[in-house]
Amino acid sequence: MSYRLGEVILSRETISRRVKEMAAEIANDNGRDKGIVVVGILTGAAFFLTDLVREMPEDMDVRVDFMSVASYGDNTTSSGVVRIFHDLKSSIEGKNVLVVEDIVDSGLTLSHLIELLNGRHPASLKVCVLLDKYERRKTEVNVDYCGFRIPDKFVVGYGLDCAGMWRHLKDIKYVIEE
Ligand code: IMP
Repeated sequence: MSYRLGEVILSRETISRRVKEMAAEIANDNGRDKGIVVVGILTGAAFFLTDLVREMPEDMDVRVDFMSVASYGDNTTSSGVVRIFHDLKSSIEGKNVLVVEDIVDSGLTLSHLIELLNGRHPASLKVCVLLDKYERRKTEVNVDYCGFRIPDKFVVGYGLDCAGMWRHLKDIKYVIEE
């Protein structure tokens, strides 16, 4: 099977506008004097996270940390049991944490990750996703900030990949299987 790029679902301008709105909402909810630790899930969310935090006010206490996880399962479905490849550099105990993920699909990976991070006793833990494929949800995940709800079709770009390809695209596009 081979893949080719399909039409644009979200243009760079649309993404950029929404990222600005989300950053403002997060800053507003959080309060500038209360610091947050923004936890990005590698690799996909790194692209979204770096744009998101740069839209936050300069006087807000924003820390950034990354985690790399993979869920056990076959290639197309995740089991939700996550294995940590790269853990956070700093403790999140007593901190206000914002988990940033590129896309929530079945919700299994994120729900397991939330459980794992809650076990480290943060003061609060919120979840921010760029994309939500809500039709595919298998388990409930409490998403606090969502960029866009999208239909159940595979997408790439702006950090999202298909077998490692197309993360670098500025727009988010559909993938066509041939
Ligand atoms: P789930 O919510 O546990 O099913 O898995 C979410 C993960 O699946 C995301 O972090 C992505 O890596 C991947 N994923 C799901 N849908 C897409 C897509 O349309 N494009 C690229 N990656 C996807």
